[in-house]
Amino acid sequence: MPFDHNDHYHRLLLRQVPRNCGAALDVGCGTGRFARRLADLGIEVDAVDPSAEAVAEAHALSESAGGAKSPRFRQADVTDVELAKGHYDFISCLASIHHMSFDVVAALRDALAPGGVLVILGCYPEKSRLDWAWSLAAVPVNAVARLAVAAVDMNRSAASAGRGRVRAPVMPPTMPLHDIRREAAVLLPGCSIRRLLFWRYLLVFRTGA
Ligand SMILES: C[S@@+](CC[C@H](N)C(=O)[O-])C[C@H]1O[C@@H](n2cnc3c(N)ncnc32)[C@H](O)[C@@H]1O
Repeated sequence: MPFDHNDHYHRLLLRQVPRNCGAALDVGCGTGRFARRLADLGIEVDAVDPSAEAVAEAHALSESAGGAKSPRFRQADVTDVELAKGHYDFISCLASIHHMSFDVVAALRDALAPGGVLVILGCYPEKSRLDWAWSLAAVPVNAVARLAVAAVDMNRSAASAGRGRVRAPVMPPTMPLHDIRREAAVLLPGCSIRRLLFWRYLLVFRTGA
């Protein structure tokens, strides 16, 4: 696996999982790497993605990983799914929200249980000088990280080399970060948004307990 900007932030995202989290939803799960990490914590995980190929790979990888619990993967567009209100303790969207209209966050907000947490690892296009400055800072760090991960990969066994060939669909983000901040302030009042180094932002929204 080459260095992956989304996977790089898994640990940061897992730190946002509330205590006693029982039910989680991963939106745009792709091949399910983050959903499996949640399931490995003993959480009941629903994971949705409209890509048949990605969901088939998610199922296959979960079977071969053989963790204690497997996420419930479902091939679906989350905007077509009727999410149970107040149900999830944790909802995550990793690099997927820009594939949808941002206002889908209202449905995700309503699906949170009291004390629940919504995290969005989001992508944004470079529009402002500040965006470009962050990108410039990320380039050398990214290069070093890629080299380091490639070196580790070279030492992996040939048996594992065939795994993970399916890639989840990607598309470039179009919504500028300042628009994301503005819409989030209305739909997710009190949320925090901060820039992360590798062309990402982290949005965290918590409901009252
Ligand atoms: C860049 S991939 C990220 C995959 C995964 N979250 C990860 O971190 O590797 C974006 C994913 O969002 C999914 N997606 C696009 N539109 C969606 C929708 N309406 N509902 C749910 N997922 C969607 C795509 O199929 C794709 O798998």
